[in-house]
Amino acid sequence: MGEVKRIGILTSGGDCAGLNAVIRAVTHCGVGVHGWKVLGICKATLGLMSRPAQVMPLEMEKVDRLVAMGGTILGTTNKGDPFAFPMADGSVVDRSAEIIEGYHSLGLDALIGVGGDGSLAILRKIAQQGGINLVGIPKTIDNDVGITERSIGFDTAVNIATEAIDRLHFTAASHNRVMIVEVMGRDAGHIALNAGIAGGAHIVLIPEIAYKMENIGRYIKKRQTLGQDYTIVVVSEAVCTDSGEVVQQTGQFGECRLGGIGQYLAEQIATQTGAETRVTVLGHTQRGGISSPLDRILASAFGVGAVELIAQGKYDYMVTWQNRQVVSVPILDAIKDYRAVDPEETLVKTARGLGICFGD
Ligand code: F6P
Repeated sequence: MGEVKRIGILTSGGDCAGLNAVIRAVTHCGVGVHGWKVLGICKATLGLMSRPAQVMPLEMEKVDRLVAMGGTILGTTNKGDPFAFPMADGSVVDRSAEIIEGYHSLGLDALIGVGGDGSLAILRKIAQQGGINLVGIPKTIDNDVGITERSIGFDTAVNIATEAIDRLHFTAASHNRVMIVEVMGRDAGHIALNAGIAGGAHIVLIPEIAYKMENIGRYIKKRQTLGQDYTIVVVSEAVCTDSGEVVQQTGQFGECRLGGIGQYLAEQIATQTGAETRVTVLGHTQRGGISSPLDRILASAFGVGAVELIAQGKYDYMVTWQNRQVVSVPILDAIKDYRAVDPEETLVKTARGLGICFGD
């Protein structure tokens, strides 16, 4: 066993299934295998801004039953860029120095940051500025972090969306309805594409492939004339209206929240085809609950991989999944390319080969 290290782990950005499995894996490998101290940092960078820094010592007994549990026992936040942090008095302050000071006050040798591309970019900037030995782990149900084939949380979200589609087939067929399922994904259509194929959807709309309402109407009418009297449409929340407008609301903190394209489509489809339509918005159900076995496995492999990077002193790297292996890549390389659906990729070709309509 090498020198005893003291490491921190934080989960940042939107939660997803698999985060607790990562926390468990880092603790099992860091504490159990290497004999290090592992501190969980509460509420992402907010925990390092607090004085004293808000932490949770992670021990084997505390994490042992976490492998399947959804959410994150450490808490998280997807608000408040530390470089332009909105204060209660309305001012906007750069609080990165407080985070750096918080990290050093804990006497940490390294920090594992579990986040999507946005969180990892912020954490890396802070790490570069403050001499923090950072290792990244990609998580996001959107699966849009560059280089890695998979991010933690994506598989569970696809499972949940697929199960919803499976259920909707029966009720849609019973009533001859067009059922529209709106799924998350921010700017990427991976959840819609994967769940659409797995659930046997008839129409899949993703932001990466522009659609025309008339093509969707024609496709549904053709199904009707063939006696296929119901249709399942899966739409990603980031899909725009036919005329290119983003469908969103402004949240209570002034943030933009995607959502509503399903309802828009339902009205358009009803007008064009005369079909009865219903909308199901899956929302945060895709992030919660028990994680899928694949997400638990990925989270476990990433947690162990991140600890091993620290053991090797390999910082500013992120673990990725490539060709059935955990491979480390510079964080900078991973965050510079956002991974959208490639309209030429295998799964798009698969969907087209199955006769799924993208509305193009
Ligand atoms: O990035 C993950 C994600 O779940 C997106 O798919 C979605 O648009 C967004 O976060 C929702 O964020 P919030 O939890 O702030 O509503």
